[in-house]
Amino acid sequence: MSQPAAKPVISATGLFTPPDSISNEELVASFNTHVARFNAANAAAIDAGDVKALEPSSVEFIEKASGIKARHVLAKASILDPDIMEPRWAERPNEEVSVLAEIGIAAARDALARAGRDAKDVDAVLCACSNLQRPYPAIAVEIQDRLGMDGFGFDMNVACSSATFGIQTAADMIRSGSARSVLVVNPEICSGHLNWRDRDSHFIFGDVATAILVEAEDMAPSTHWEILGSKLITRFSNNIRNNFGFLNRATPETRSAPDKLFIQQGRSVFKEVVPMVAALISDELARLEIAPKGLRRLWLHQANANMNRLIASKVLGHEASADESPTVLDTYANTSSAGSIIAFHLNSDDLNAGDIGVICSFGAGYSAGTVALRKIA
Ligand code: COA
Repeated sequence: MSQPAAKPVISATGLFTPPDSISNEELVASFNTHVARFNAANAAAIDAGDVKALEPSSVEFIEKASGIKARHVLAKASILDPDIMEPRWAERPNEEVSVLAEIGIAAARDALARAGRDAKDVDAVLCACSNLQRPYPAIAVEIQDRLGMDGFGFDMNVACSSATFGIQTAADMIRSGSARSVLVVNPEICSGHLNWRDRDSHFIFGDVATAILVEAEDMAPSTHWEILGSKLITRFSNNIRNNFGFLNRATPETRSAPDKLFIQQGRSVFKEVVPMVAALISDELARLEIAPKGLRRLWLHQANANMNRLIASKVLGHEASADESPTVLDTYANTSSAGSIIAFHLNSDDLNAGDIGVICSFGAGYSAGTVALRKIA
């Protein structure tokens, strides 16, 4: 398929939020039951100095360290069960839609409805997220099939930066004429790769799905977002890592090995990623000749409230208000690549025509992406 080259815009975004949510209080109660049971079961070995006692978690620490108060999840009961502490569901037969595709489709349908777009008129779907349910067939092809689309789909993974990398990929397709309408879908079942028994990180993630419809300007609805520019960077780091993969298929040993789930050096991530991301946004704004005071809003990756506060203040030159840099961490927690898109989706209708904002993501890789947008209405 080859089309005339066109200017890419965001026509609409979509959101699927799982109905169930876990509060910090519920999470900590479950975690601390697990700790108490472990310490009781290992009391003799702990007393002898052979086993290290586990320490309890605390609601106050979680809120102060991260800004997170709750997270939506797909499988609340099994996550909170101190004997399980992970999401569990029955394996679905091949004839049934996969869980990842299902929530991606829900977000995609929301984006399509908001744009008034028939799925038949979409050329491509990119499933851009941090964990894919299976290697193949691509989840994107399953989403394409269920939406009744022609064209093509493929999966891509750049961890927490998957959405912005997906937006630039879609925009480049539209610029080159290989597609005119591209759905970027971000289903994030973060509960499946979080170690719910790890005190340092058990509170970080939640489940959600977002979708972004990137289209040629001439077919977009009258209210849309012009993509002024985007910039992506990656820099290798072991500080956020997950070693699970097809070369170490799930045996009882690999299932319980902490490195087969999300693991991070949180302090190092904080120290190294903040300046990297602030410079990325500032340099891209300078290239686009947009002064910080010309920026109406920042929709930052939702990893940590303190991290976002610091990045926003470096970019803006002053402490950002909740209006300048909104957060959804309190109710959604970190939802990997979907975070900045939720922030945009829930906090963009109030902007006026001509207002400029920036979507920015960052995470494992390290990877970071920034997309500058202007509202057209
Ligand atoms: N409950 C109570 N106390 C806890 C705790 C918990 N769940 N987890 C850790 N602590 C304690 C530690 O034991 C430590 O105690 P000490 O000072 O007596 O040694 C203290 O709290 C500080 O621990 P630390 O891990 O250094 O916390 P932190 O202030 O660095 O915050 C993060 C942890 C993860 C919130 C923070 O490092 C961060 O936001 N990093 C950014 C990375 C990120 O969000 N990545 C996501 C992927 S993009």
